[in-house]
Amino acid sequence: MRIDSATRLYAVLGDPVAHSLSPLMHNCAFEAKGLNGVYVALRVTDPKGAVAAVKSLGLAGCSVTIPHKTAVLPFLEEVTPFARQVGAVNTIINRDGYLTGDNTDGPAALAALQSKIQVAGKKVALIGAGGAARGIGHALCAAGAAVTILNRSVDKGERLAQTLSADFMPLAEVDQRPFDVFVNTTSVGMYPGVRSSPLNKYIYIQNQVIMDIIYNPLETRLITRARRKGCTVIDGAEMFVRQGALQFELWTGVPAPYEKMETVVRQELSSS
Ligand code: ATR
Repeated sequence: MRIDSATRLYAVLGDPVAHSLSPLMHNCAFEAKGLNGVYVALRVTDPKGAVAAVKSLGLAGCSVTIPHKTAVLPFLEEVTPFARQVGAVNTIINRDGYLTGDNTDGPAALAALQSKIQVAGKKVALIGAGGAARGIGHALCAAGAAVTILNRSVDKGERLAQTLSADFMPLAEVDQRPFDVFVNTTSVGMYPGVRSSPLNKYIYIQNQVIMDIIYNPLETRLITRARRKGCTVIDGAEMFVRQGALQFELWTGVPAPYEKMETVVRQELSSS
């Protein structure tokens, strides 16, 4: 790959970013499509200054990650209706100094689920009530799913359910209602707590679609057990690659080389 004066610069803005897989994934995509772009990880503690720098240095696009997804909103020229509704931006597109914020997390999760099941009218248990649940919840509700928020703490769960006009149930009562789809948006099962799962009542898992957004490890306890019970599973790598592929398309207007991006991410995750 040749870096020259025409190379367009892209970055992920977050803290921490040292272990981000986004540079590997997006640089692979630029190369696969023969685009003159480079993507780097920038550890950012000042989101306002970082957005100003994106503009003044002319970065072509950015990913925004924890903890800045909400903080960047006031500094952008435009925020898409979906990102505004969610209250979080994971993508910045720079068109000649006019910065637009978008959110590809919700659409990525929805696309992953739609590839396995038609979600309209399905009973979906959304586990967790944090930022990830908000994005995915808005996308699922807009697609006509019957969403129930399952959360450990009642107040936070009820608040999100109210915002989404969805139902709420305490996580501990998961066995009281049948669901077609479970989506884990909590960090339960993530390294180093790999022996934990957000669903301990596995008896109720049978033939549903089970999605986990955790990709560290790829094979969470939830995913392993769901697989064993004959469920259709979607792991966190799929959601990660899909949100990145949508970003790539927003920045470049070129169809993302999805399979190549997925291969490089899965290779990296299984070797680490
Ligand atoms: P994010 O923005 O990444 O979604 P977050 O805002 O910290 O992260 O939200 C984390 C979610 O995971 C919350 O819904 C949290 O439940 P509480 O509202 O009860 O705190 C949930 N969560 C985290 N650890 C959990 C655990 N051990 N058991 C059940 N839920 C847990």
